[in-house]
Amino acid sequence: MPKHAELHLEGKSYSLPVLIGSENEKAIDISQLRAETGYITLDHGYGNTGSCTSKITYIDGEKGILRYRGIPIEQLAEQSNFVETSYLLIYGTLPNKLELENFSHTLSHHSLIHEDMLRFYDGYPSTAHPMAILASMVCSLSAYYPDSLNPTDPAQVDQLIPRALSKLRTIAAYSYKKSIGQPVIYPNNSLGFCANFLSMMFAVPSEKYEIDEDIVGALEMLLILHADHEQNCSTSTVRLVGSSLANLFASISAGISALWGPLHGGANQAVMEMLRQIHSNGGDVAAAIKAAKDKENPFRLMGFGHRIYKNYDPRAKIIKKHCDKILSKLKIKDPLLDIAKRLEEAALEDSYFVEKKLYPNVDFYSGVIYQAMGIPMNMYTVMFALGRLPGWIAHWKEMHDQGGNKIGRPRQVYEGEVLTNYRPLAERK
Ligand code: SDX
Repeated sequence: MPKHAELHLEGKSYSLPVLIGSENEKAIDISQLRAETGYITLDHGYGNTGSCTSKITYIDGEKGILRYRGIPIEQLAEQSNFVETSYLLIYGTLPNKLELENFSHTLSHHSLIHEDMLRFYDGYPSTAHPMAILASMVCSLSAYYPDSLNPTDPAQVDQLIPRALSKLRTIAAYSYKKSIGQPVIYPNNSLGFCANFLSMMFAVPSEKYEIDEDIVGALEMLLILHADHEQNCSTSTVRLVGSSLANLFASISAGISALWGPLHGGANQAVMEMLRQIHSNGGDVAAAIKAAKDKENPFRLMGFGHRIYKNYDPRAKIIKKHCDKILSKLKIKDPLLDIAKRLEEAALEDSYFVEKKLYPNVDFYSGVIYQAMGIPMNMYTVMFALGRLPGWIAHWKEMHDQGGNKIGRPRQVYEGEVLTNYRPLAERK
């Protein structure tokens, strides 16, 4: 493997260091490029540009491989739970029994939000999208912990991490309750993380709430599958905002906003809207495929395609498998699942999708399960944020733990006006 890459520019040769990752990913280190050559690189959408080194998650998009700290996602989805996987991502190893008990207890201990924050909800219209509420409420958490916001103090960071993990869950559930005019349900710390969330979402003060272990298991699986995905748009946002030494809550809030976009985490809601539209058009998947291929038509097959996966997203494979299992356990026959399967089949037989290597991604089937759980469509991206939170935290923490933090500040190629002088108003037509 070469140790350097040779660059020839304007009659000069430059030798750029080559970096090889633990899974043999190769990179050319261009950190001295501008200083040595006066040139920068340009890479719209950063499809060819690494922003950091990381030990958290490995993806092989060609082979459809996803591993958290080296452990295949398939094993974690089947054998782990969300709290244990969060610990793995954030602290780097699977916890032993005592570590897991302590971590779970700490999360339960920090599940309440300050009572004053409940009043924030009264200021939102009942139609407010819960992602708008989540982003602002999570950032507002920093107002309640002014003495533990220093990102360069590991002790303060260790205090904030369980607060962020536990309180985002509470904020999410409360926003749902407020949107349907029901009283908020306080956390019940005798329940596990996921069961506690379901209780806060669906319990009512007037009745005993029965935990459905099948739904808890489905939620554990979904949150594990969403927990991290290396340098995706929202995680890169959390890293960039964190690089300015913004506190953890502010950095996560920025990640929530980035995730909201329909090209990213907002796709799970967009998929269900698309499936409902196809259903109302009599289930005509051929028309949807035709529209998705039409360059003049802005319609895209939501939940399809991926910047990294040029093969089936391993998460989509697992979710699709669980769809049938969960819906039959809950005795639900969902026509949207049948449409999704027919849509996938038609797309994967169509040369447009095959040649562009467009496969179902994590968002294609997840909404079917959220719907079966009784979670409303406008909460699907909130569920994605709840799942992705440990990944955001892990990357933010890794960036600070690595030391030598440099504020993220990309360059540009300027194409605007060259030097022009100011013209007084009287001289302008
Ligand atoms: C997530 O990065 C991550 O890891 C993200 C994520 C995570 O866990 O964090 O995996 C979560 O965001 C999954 C993606 C959810 N988004 C969607 O499902 C929205 C629909 N998909 C696309 O918009 C698109 O595929 C992206 C945004 C996901 C990826 O876009 P890219 O890599 O920039 O690819 P592109 O837009 O340049 O598309 C390449 C070609 C184009 O055609 P040409 O211009 O080359 O002729 O494929 C076409 C696109 O038009 N294309 C699609 C398509 N996706 C790409 N055509 C129809 N339907 C689609 N869904």
